[in-house]
Amino acid sequence: MAVFNLNVNGKKRKVDVDPDTPMLWVLRDHLNLVGTKFGCGIAQCGACTIHADGNAIRSCSTPISAVGDMEIVTIEGLSPNGNHPVQEAWIEHDVPQCGYCQAGQIMNAAAFLKKNPNPSKEEITSAMSGNICRCGTYTRINAAIQTASK
Ligand code: FES
Repeated sequence: MAVFNLNVNGKKRKVDVDPDTPMLWVLRDHLNLVGTKFGCGIAQCGACTIHADGNAIRSCSTPISAVGDMEIVTIEGLSPNGNHPVQEAWIEHDVPQCGYCQAGQIMNAAAFLKKNPNPSKEEITSAMSGNICRCGTYTRINAAIQTASK
């Protein structure tokens, strides 16, 4: 066990865990931030996507020891004062079906739009291709990201 001082959603958080503990479980089990979901656990589905210094990362395969003082943002902290434009677009397009993968989708979309604020449909498809949705909401995801980019 070791003590880690994290920066999560703008707050200092102290946790005492094994250094190999994936951030997904630190967030869910130790910090009660359960918006970040477990899908595959092997970096293949994107359900666990969070931001580390503004980059989308897979929390299931990122040990806490690799995080250091990076600014971690989860779906709970994406837009603390009202909806993020991506979330607004998600509502407008009624994107979710079962909803399970959607936090990861939104986190990936938000990080992508920050880097590429005016993407083409093809660029969106490519950027989102690693986030799997078993309900197949891909068409609405793409449309919502186009709306959010306007
Ligand atoms: Fe992390 Fe699937 S749960 S990528």
